[in-house]
Amino acid sequence: MDLGLKNKVAVVMASSRGLGFAVAEELAREGARLAICSRDGDAIGAAAEHLRASCNAEVCAGACDVEDAAAIDAFARKVIDTYGTVHVLFTNAGGPPPGTVADVVPADYSRAVSLNLMSAINCAYAFLPYMKEQRWGRIIASTSITVKQPLPALALSNVSRVGVIAFIKSLAVEYAQYGITANAVAPGYIGTERVAGLLDARVQREGITREAAAHDIVANIPAGRMGDPKEFAALVAFLASERASYINGETILVDGGMYRGLM
Ligand SMILES: NC(=O)c1ccc[n+]([C@@H]2O[C@H](COP(=O)([O-])OP(=O)(O)OC[C@H]3O[C@@H](n4cnc5c(N)ncnc54)[C@H](OP(=O)(O)O)[C@@H]3O)[C@@H](O)[C@H]2O)c1
Repeated sequence: MDLGLKNKVAVVMASSRGLGFAVAEELAREGARLAICSRDGDAIGAAAEHLRASCNAEVCAGACDVEDAAAIDAFARKVIDTYGTVHVLFTNAGGPPPGTVADVVPADYSRAVSLNLMSAINCAYAFLPYMKEQRWGRIIASTSITVKQPLPALALSNVSRVGVIAFIKSLAVEYAQYGITANAVAPGYIGTERVAGLLDARVQREGITREAAAHDIVANIPAGRMGDPKEFAALVAFLASERASYINGETILVDGGMYRGLM
């Protein structure tokens, strides 16, 4: 299937590794020109080199902390100076620390909202004018299964991400007239360093083995395994494509069937 992404400019936030990197790699394979960022300049530089070498991709890379609105604006200027416009925006950030409601304090929620909600809003505001001007755009926000089904010991994720869904829905309704779609993707458990860190936290907290912690998670996933970042990236590439032109305002899970609700 031709996704029509050749030469489109795709901005992938928080993409030196994990889900963001997998998305960047998938879009590069589809021929998109990339702009990628993360906090660590060396790590994002290495990711860019990898994408150039493995996919022959055009890549603009920069250090940017998505918690910092001014840094997002500076990165957006760099992207526009390089490519002149943007077609696809994938918003992403690191995950907030794990913990139950009892483990965290109110200030932790503010930090999580800054990391996981405000980052998506600031990124969208930085790039929307270019999409509106060209009357074509795709915004895809990375969230979590926690927006549909809160998970134990992830209080900060459970609370901070739902606003992203409301923002995406608002964007979808308001910007459809400009040929822009806005959707959210919600991973369950996909094998990345973040998930390895969550397993380690459980080992520490509960004194169980890593195997037992992993087994508990997988036992709740009908697919019988965690996902591969490539399986997540495939959905993002489709939502970024011309083919997804009539999918707007949706939240789509990539969770191997883990979510048990009906809608
Ligand atoms: N993997 C899953 O199964 C899963 C499930 C549900 C939700 N999620 C969420 O999806 C997001 C990505 O997860 P992941 O598994 O890919 O995590 P990961 O493996 O830890 O990778 C996180 C990426 O984000 C970058 N990053 C972190 N904080 C940043 C910031 N403030 N500004 C810019 N870049 C930042 C990191 O690079 P630097 O360190 O260089 O900044 C890295 O490239 C997280 O919010 C996570 O909680 C993941």
